[in-house]
Amino acid sequence: MSLRVVEHPLAKHLLAEIRDKATPPSRFRQLTRSLTTLLILDATRNAKVVHGTVETPLGTAGADRLAEPLAVVPVLRAGLGMLESVVELFPDVAVGYIGLERNEDTAIARRYYSKIPDLAGKFCLCLDPMLATGGSATQAIGFMKMNRATRVTMVCVVAAPEGVAHLQANHPDVEIVTAALDERLDPRRYIYPGLGDFGDRLYATQ
Ligand code: PRP
Ligand code: URA
Repeated sequence: MSLRVVEHPLAKHLLAEIRDKATPPSRFRQLTRSLTTLLILDATRNAKVVHGTVETPLGTAGADRLAEPLAVVPVLRAGLGMLESVVELFPDVAVGYIGLERNEDTAIARRYYSKIPDLAGKFCLCLDPMLATGGSATQAIGFMKMNRATRVTMVCVVAAPEGVAHLQANHPDVEIVTAALDERLDPRRYIYPGLGDFGDRLYATQ
């Protein structure tokens, strides 16, 4: 499985502001949407196209169109902040939902909701901004595979080496696309230096 850290300068610029503890929720939401757009462009770079033609006002031009149905599964809550960007880019995308919450003491994620369409034959994206221990992403992708997903890309904003290793061990076929690979987890199993609690910053619940 591959790990791709998106190195585009604009992605780095947006990430710097997202990390900033002074960034208020209103701006945090905008930045999340903009950064997700860049991440999704990278995550879908190998989507299949069919070659065809289109009539312009002057003549016939070659025209490639997306060939595969796309599906996206945001992990609630924080992954919801990334969903709108995907729907903007791919209006016909099928959307599934998984609700997972980490226990504050054990950092083990518990599933409290899921509604996932049949993912067979689809190019699938799993959205969760924080890949910390990797437990949530591993569970989420497990549920996606139970719903017949065979080609999944994990899209996150910040990943920890521990989370990458855990996900790679459990789902070696899954590509990870992230804006940053940070140093490590802290003793509370938050990503360090990270950006804090993404869901709380997104929804102003701190
Ligand atoms: C956060 C984050 C991920 C998870 C990552 O969610 O959005 O889902 O933690 O941690 P992990 O890699 O160690 O599993 P959280 O459980 O805080 O729920 P929330 O999105 O509702 O805030
Ligand atoms: N969840 C977050 O929101 N942030 C972290 O650093 C780890 C898990």
